[in-house]
Amino acid sequence: MLVLGIETSCDETGIALYDTERGLLAHALHSQVAMHAEYGGVVPELASRDHIRRAPRLIGKALADAGLEIGAVGAIAYTQGPGLAGALLAGASLAAGLGVALKVPVLGVHHLEGHLLSPLLAAPRPEFPFVALLVSGGHTQLMRVDGVGLYELLGETLDDAAGEAFDKTAQLLGLGYPGGPQVARAAETGDAYRYKLPRPMLNSGDLEFSFSGLKTAVLNLAKKEGPGATADIAASFQAAVVDVLAGKCLAALTRTGMDRLVVAGGVGANRALRARLDAEAGRHGFTVFYPPLDLCTDNGAMIAYAGALRLTAGAPSDGGFSVRPRWELAELEAVPVS
Ligand code: KG4
Ligand code: ZN
Repeated sequence: MLVLGIETSCDETGIALYDTERGLLAHALHSQVAMHAEYGGVVPELASRDHIRRAPRLIGKALADAGLEIGAVGAIAYTQGPGLAGALLAGASLAAGLGVALKVPVLGVHHLEGHLLSPLLAAPRPEFPFVALLVSGGHTQLMRVDGVGLYELLGETLDDAAGEAFDKTAQLLGLGYPGGPQVARAAETGDAYRYKLPRPMLNSGDLEFSFSGLKTAVLNLAKKEGPGATADIAASFQAAVVDVLAGKCLAALTRTGMDRLVVAGGVGANRALRARLDAEAGRHGFTVFYPPLDLCTDNGAMIAYAGALRLTAGAPSDGGFSVRPRWELAELEAVPVS
């Protein structure tokens, strides 16, 4: 079955074609970063309009790349939530319309389930069960994953998400939007040991996170040290985040007794985080899995893939056009997957 994936939850229009026999055939992406950059963040109304404008052309591109016609599509998976309501509706309405036109099932997918399962698109694939670190712009969560739809929240951030902390730090340092890649780039030439920033909740004994205090520490430091210290502050900030994320991952693996860690979400693209987790994996004898680098941030492939798993397990069509801007992963139903 050929599944068309449509992702429009935030500021990336992602389209993909996933075939249950042949794997990922094509994916096309348009990032709205440049459009939102002058406002310093995502403007929801502009995001919705741009999704409507871009998505049909991206579908054409993905089909052309895969050498297929639209009639080959056997099902449609779209991001139903969580995300910006208007942006989600743009994708949901496109999915609903195409579903009627093509007479194929349409299934709403949970955006975070897409992220969680995206490492299964890479080789080698992690086997269930595993611990997942989900680190995106809106979420920082440790989950126990026993199968598709079998997600147990082990811990999460009490305030800012890790990606949000990167974005806010970039703003404070005048590095622009989106912050993660910019801070990471600035950090490359910086001294991570110059400033000792806090590692919030690293030794709290639980699996919760907090990043807002770190942001305040960066603000005070940036005011005191001035623009000359930007690279060192960026490097010191990144080191603090990596320390906390790595420490909590180790604690989650110990607590669950598991030896597989999966990292997903935009911050999973961070090279310093990957290097640290790889080193810890070698030291502590666990295996760490990542999505392909271009599938860490929002994309249509993860939505097509998660939709394909659910559809082949017998999930019924929901017809599209329903969105859930707020939606907890724990509300998902488990599906048997071979
Ligand atoms: O998963 P994602 O694309 O969107 C959400 O669902 O939130 O994640 C976006 C987040 C942003 O906060 C962005 O700054 C961060 O991921 N990010 C990074 C890197 N690339 C993206 N953070 C740190 N280092 C990176 N290389
Ligand atoms: Zn995302």
